[in-house]
Amino acid sequence: MNFMQFTEEQEMLREIAYDFARNEVRPLIKAYDRRAEFPQELLPKMAALGFLGVCIPMRYGGAGMDYVSLGILCEALEWADSSVRETIAVHVGLNGLPLFQWGNEAQKQKYLVPQSRGDKIACFGLTEPGAGSDVANLSTHARRAGDRYILNGEKMWITLADVADHFLIFAKTDPAARHRGISAFIVERGFSGVTTGTIHGKMGVRASNTGWIALQDAEVPAENRLGREGEGFKIAMSALDNARYTVAAGAVGVIKACLEESVQYANQRETFGQKIGEHQLVQQMIARMAQRRDAGELLVAKAGWLKNRGIRNTRETSMAKWYCTEAALASANDAVQIHGAYGYSDEYNVERYLRNAKSAVIYEGTTQIHELVQGAYALGYRQDKPLRCELPAYDRSYWQEEGEATLE
Ligand code: CAA
Repeated sequence: MNFMQFTEEQEMLREIAYDFARNEVRPLIKAYDRRAEFPQELLPKMAALGFLGVCIPMRYGGAGMDYVSLGILCEALEWADSSVRETIAVHVGLNGLPLFQWGNEAQKQKYLVPQSRGDKIACFGLTEPGAGSDVANLSTHARRAGDRYILNGEKMWITLADVADHFLIFAKTDPAARHRGISAFIVERGFSGVTTGTIHGKMGVRASNTGWIALQDAEVPAENRLGREGEGFKIAMSALDNARYTVAAGAVGVIKACLEESVQYANQRETFGQKIGEHQLVQQMIARMAQRRDAGELLVAKAGWLKNRGIRNTRETSMAKWYCTEAALASANDAVQIHGAYGYSDEYNVERYLRNAKSAVIYEGTTQIHELVQGAYALGYRQDKPLRCELPAYDRSYWQEEGEATLE
């Protein structure tokens, strides 16, 4: 099994995505981060390159590429900044792919097509003020009233809350049934009773929009329920199988950026009459970054390889997310150390990488949740059950049936 050999198309995407990260994101992201402002101006450019529907079939407005390409794109974007990769994680991983996996044809035509083209932006509303890791304990409630549902509750820590045109909202339709009583709804910003706001004062990912969504007697047409009543928890968990993969791939981008910038600095800065790279303790930090990069790449590639073949990868994706985000945090910490006092100022990028990397060991399942999950798999306490709607294996002829990919 050679899951590190990339196709011509994937190599082309890597080049385009790194060029975009280098030329479009890096020059402006520090200023956005300082102002804690979302770089809205990047969205049309990302749309034009097909990034906002990278692995969605062309018939649904996407670029028709595979799940490995999704990882390649996320690595390149987060090499520049976590906030841009987060846009792909929620728009594609937590919203586009669940619509593709669980949606009916009408929902795909109405929502998936415009969002994959980048005409609309979408996000994911699962977490609440009182329910993060213990997501089955969420309290947002949906009551059926004829041909609609009435939703009440609040979502918090939602990426793109103040940017997105529509949200995938999880709410209890049968509170007594705990996780089996949760349903998923496509909620448009314009529906009555829906308001959003931005959360300020974050330690990192400051150029990402993070906010809240309030639902006060929000009226949602019954046809906007995604999947069956009670299927919401499985939809959320399967969506997280996609998004955690994007987080893992992005974290490899962070490690690469830390390594490159540390190597460059270590070859310039001199102490005690020699380049600091010649000091063994600095070499050790550099060596560990290189080790984390190689190990992370393999874990991400394995998860992508399984996804392309339609093989359930909840365990492998969780492993990749856990390892890569911790490895990125450790690498960013070392990168700041190597840069010394300069690394502690925003003259260099590494302090931003450190602040950003901390967020990824918290969201999309904390490190502790992934440790529990991996322990349960290893002990044989946890097995994956087949789903009613599995994420389909990648089939190039189906994905690219209509016209050429927009990535050129
Ligand atoms: N795909 C589909 N179904 C799945 C699944 C998956 N990956 N994992 C579990 N399920 C199913 C199970 O088969 C089970 O089905 P049955 O009802 O038929 O038995 C059901 O879901 C319950 O699963 P578990 O028994 O595994 O549930 P649990 O309570 O033991 O554990 C958990 C759940 C792992 C702790 C889970 O709650 C979890 O992952 N928590 C973390 C939540 C999280 O990651 N939040 C991130 C929010 S999004 C975000 O951060 C994005 C952002 O905007 C920044």
